[in-house]
Amino acid sequence: MSAPLLRLEEVGMRFSGLQAVDALDFSVDAGKVVGLIGPNGAGKTTVFNMITGVYRPTAGRILWQGRDITGAPPYRVAALGIYRTFQTIRLFSGMTVLENVQAGLHLQTRQQWWQGLLGTPAQRREEVSQVAQVRALLERLELAHCADENATSLSYGLQRRVELARALIASPRLLILDEPAAGLNDQESLELNRTILSIRDGGVTVLLVEHDMNVVMNVTDHIVCINFGRKIAEGTPEQIRNDPKVIEAYLGQDDDDDDWNDESVAGAAASERRAPI
Ligand SMILES: Nc1ncnc2c1ncn2[C@@H]1O[C@H](COP(=O)(O)OP(=O)(O)OP(=O)(O)O)[C@@H](O)[C@H]1O
Ligand SMILES: [Mg+2]
Repeated sequence: MSAPLLRLEEVGMRFSGLQAVDALDFSVDAGKVVGLIGPNGAGKTTVFNMITGVYRPTAGRILWQGRDITGAPPYRVAALGIYRTFQTIRLFSGMTVLENVQAGLHLQTRQQWWQGLLGTPAQRREEVSQVAQVRALLERLELAHCADENATSLSYGLQRRVELARALIASPRLLILDEPAAGLNDQESLELNRTILSIRDGGVTVLLVEHDMNVVMNVTDHIVCINFGRKIAEGTPEQIRNDPKVIEAYLGQDDDDDDWNDESVAGAAASERRAPI
């Protein structure tokens, strides 16, 4: 059997006194949508930061198609085809939607910086082809109408979509999404579900952190649930929503955290039955 696209083996991250992630094992198989869930502070973003080279794990190994990439810097991780979006939107202000998405292509730009200054024919040809590529993706993500608008002046839902486009334009092998539904209304989160499934059907593997259970339960093929940095359950959405350890972790969440109270695991299961995608 071939190695999974991504594998974490006994991965740990310690911040001075705090064990944020502890002996975490899981795999992401090619062509799947894998969800990483858990209460606030469980260590989810830290896992993403280790995979993408922002943090070097203090224990364990991260394997990409069986190759050890533990501690590889972010530019090398990106060169492998691992791209991400962030929990808080990080678009370039003062730049249009098109320019923001085009920025996601910078690793693939063939021309040298000085050719850009001189405006050589090769550089101009590349620019034209990149813009065409960006416009085609904006069309696909229903963003074409705002291509020339300032990205940070758009609605929250559209900004999240622009972030997704910026990661997708680089033709990722693995797309890592940190709470892509945060701040979205119900309609926008339904649209996000469809977008994620179409990304997967286009051959991109997806690893996502999400608190919105309507997204998690409807789009993932496999879910890993962590709490206090440790894996407490793993399985299909059906297995996860019925797992007592997962339900307990959700119920242990603070009362003022409506992410988990409004849409409990069981509640999401019921709403999924009412409104399948
Ligand atoms: N750079 C850091 N230095 C020290 N502690 C950190 C650092 N980054 C994260 N932590 C701590 O590690 C733990 C896990 O944080 P992390 O952001 O990974 O959680 P999370 O599961 O993404 O939470 P949320 O759902 O709120 O986004 C938290 O206790 C957090 O305070
Ligand atoms: Mg987080």
